[in-house]
Amino acid sequence: MRFAPESEHGANAGLNSARKFLEPVKAKFPWITYSDLWILGGVCAIQEMQGPAIPYRPGRTDGDVAACTPDGRLPDATKSHGHLRDIFYRMGFNDQDIVALSGAHALGRCHTDRSGFDGPWTFSPTVLTNDYYRLLVEEKWQWKKWKGPAQYEDKTTKTLMMLPTDIALIEDKKFKPWVEKYAKDNDAFFQDFSSVVLRLFELGVPFAAGSENGRWTFKSSHDS
Ligand code: HEM
Repeated sequence: MRFAPESEHGANAGLNSARKFLEPVKAKFPWITYSDLWILGGVCAIQEMQGPAIPYRPGRTDGDVAACTPDGRLPDATKSHGHLRDIFYRMGFNDQDIVALSGAHALGRCHTDRSGFDGPWTFSPTVLTNDYYRLLVEEKWQWKKWKGPAQYEDKTTKTLMMLPTDIALIEDKKFKPWVEKYAKDNDAFFQDFSSVVLRLFELGVPFAAGSENGRWTFKSSHDS
């Protein structure tokens, strides 16, 4: 993702901010590969936002421009359940995994100058909670009337948003039970989120044999 065309794929819009943010860290610790650094940044961010620990191991090498993936392998937020399955099944994830991964949308927001969508999914976008699922189940969601891309807003405050792919998780009868489970059980969400994110973060990496026994789990700054 350091190189065009991959850095310019629509689904990566905005990630240049995260890449730039980590540049000074790379300058200070040049021995770490970009790919390990970005994953380590993700592991730390999730943990510092009070999410679960994600065990980490190094071993990613950096590719060059020839390693750019073709466009279209990342999810398109304007689409629905069939598309989510096409994208995630190809990487070996199942329906439960898709729902657990989507819980990351408890964090952050959409930006009109990046994806074109607007707004946060939850009221606490810097803390990882199961609120994404709770809001999906408990709130009423309606189409937002605006000139931007089709998205949903909550009926109560009209300050939160859901993408069409988020609403697909409660419209599809195989996804919905997982949304309901995580809405009721934050511990189950954290446990499944940690293990599915670990798989995502290690996908396709030719780690040294045996390194799966040597993953590191970091202490959080909020641990006493
Ligand atoms: C299920 C398919 C997914 C779709 C269609 C999707 C789509 C999007 C879109 C359109 C944005 C807004 C970008 C912007 O305007 O700044 C976004 C943001 C975000 N996504 Fe996803 N995403 C998906 C899955 C995931 C997964 C698997 C994760 C992580 C495990 C994730 C984590 C995030 C986070 C943290 C943000 C907030 C970024 C910020 O605050 O700048 N998303 N996503």
